[in-house]
Amino acid sequence: MKLCMIGTGYVGLVSGTCFADFGNTVYCVDRDTYKIKKLNSGGSVIFEPGLDEIIKKNFKAKRLLFTTNLKKAVQKSDIIFICVGTPNKKKSDQVDLKYVFSAVKEIIKASKSKKILITKSTVPVGTGDKIEKIIKKFRKKNIEVISNPEFLREGEAIRDFRFPDRIVVGSNNSKYFKVLKKLYQPLINKGAKFFTTSRRSAELIKYASNAFLATKITFINELANLCEKSNINIEDISLGMGSDSRIGSRFLRAGPAYGGSCFPKDTKGLAFTGKNFGVNLSIVKSVIRSNNDRKMLHTQNIKKILRTIKNKKIAFLGVTFKPNTDDMRDSVSLNMIPYLARRGAKVTYYDPTGSKENFAKIKNCEFVDSINDNCMNADLVILHTEWDEFKSLEFKKIIKKKKFSIYDLRNLYNLEEMKRKNIRYFSVGRPNHF
Ligand code: UDX
Repeated sequence: MKLCMIGTGYVGLVSGTCFADFGNTVYCVDRDTYKIKKLNSGGSVIFEPGLDEIIKKNFKAKRLLFTTNLKKAVQKSDIIFICVGTPNKKKSDQVDLKYVFSAVKEIIKASKSKKILITKSTVPVGTGDKIEKIIKKFRKKNIEVISNPEFLREGEAIRDFRFPDRIVVGSNNSKYFKVLKKLYQPLINKGAKFFTTSRRSAELIKYASNAFLATKITFINELANLCEKSNINIEDISLGMGSDSRIGSRFLRAGPAYGGSCFPKDTKGLAFTGKNFGVNLSIVKSVIRSNNDRKMLHTQNIKKILRTIKNKKIAFLGVTFKPNTDDMRDSVSLNMIPYLARRGAKVTYYDPTGSKENFAKIKNCEFVDSINDNCMNADLVILHTEWDEFKSLEFKKIIKKKKFSIYDLRNLYNLEEMKRKNIRYFSVGRPNHF
């Protein structure tokens, strides 16, 4: 098949590359000439394990093409995926669809023959209907609008694409399910569930899934607070609860607060959709509030650990919202580091994906390019992101200071082991004695 991906962010680039790997011809389109130039010269534009190799292979085979010429790419393709960003509007929870609608208009103008137009970007309920209205306004009849949301996690996007739990396709015209089934047949053959529904349902399934996962995390995070006060280990609770197949063990790991490009945006987007339809989605709203409050809880704990923050050397290990990505969006470190630096701490950080623009202008905050140099002489080391390289550190050897503390926001270390080593160790939802 001949496909066109509009937008070469995580969704467009990963999906386009994986579709090309099945033997399809895929045109990846972006307005960003620098990005397209880089992709055409074999450079990488996003940090996603395993992606660059598959790009190279399919680029060499001339199945994967990168271009800024939307018109040509659309004209050569049968199926066009919209994969542009859908951020929240400034100072509002409303989803900004300007990139989607602008892409739609360009696609309409470019297309001369029958096309299938698919929204892969996360779009609110009713967006497909709005796109259809725009198509009608341009008096085009041969463009069919379908919803096919993505469920890719950053850092595991290739695996998630190749082994999805389900493929959701929403269309008001069932004859198009056949075409999509053919496209996804290699995944269906490996056991992926192909689920067809109405277009609006498919749009809502994406929001509902992300909001539910965010709710699960927030639930366990609040229970972690209770565990800290009641001398219980949250890990036993996650295990005990998660073993019930009705609940499931995934996304029950207590941590700093959920972040990233999707959960914060999509929970807000869903609450806003509820408001639009006059429905109070109180659980989702309370999840958003609880997650926001949680970000400042850790700084309160740091005060309890250090007593005074001023002039204390605080070393962060990892600053991205999760491992195997360089993405800083809605990472808890964005709240913690400025707060601590403002209160006079000397903050240093190390992250395997390098220094971050987000902290460039902060006084008292410095990137240090090695775990050991970053942690040396620290009063407090904060394990912020669960990169593998942080999981077996000899803290006494690398910190070299007599008195220091560890605050582990990801519960990477064993409580007994830390006790045996006589390390002042604090973690999340475990007996801590802050
Ligand atoms: C998410 C969804 O999982 C994916 O299906 C969707 O399409 C995009 O959004 P992503 O944001 O890449 O993916 O990361 P994910 O692994 O889901 O983690 C999101 C946040 O939740 C991170 O901050 C992570 O640290 C946190 N998390 C996750 C927990 O705190 N505990 C958990 O048990 C799982």
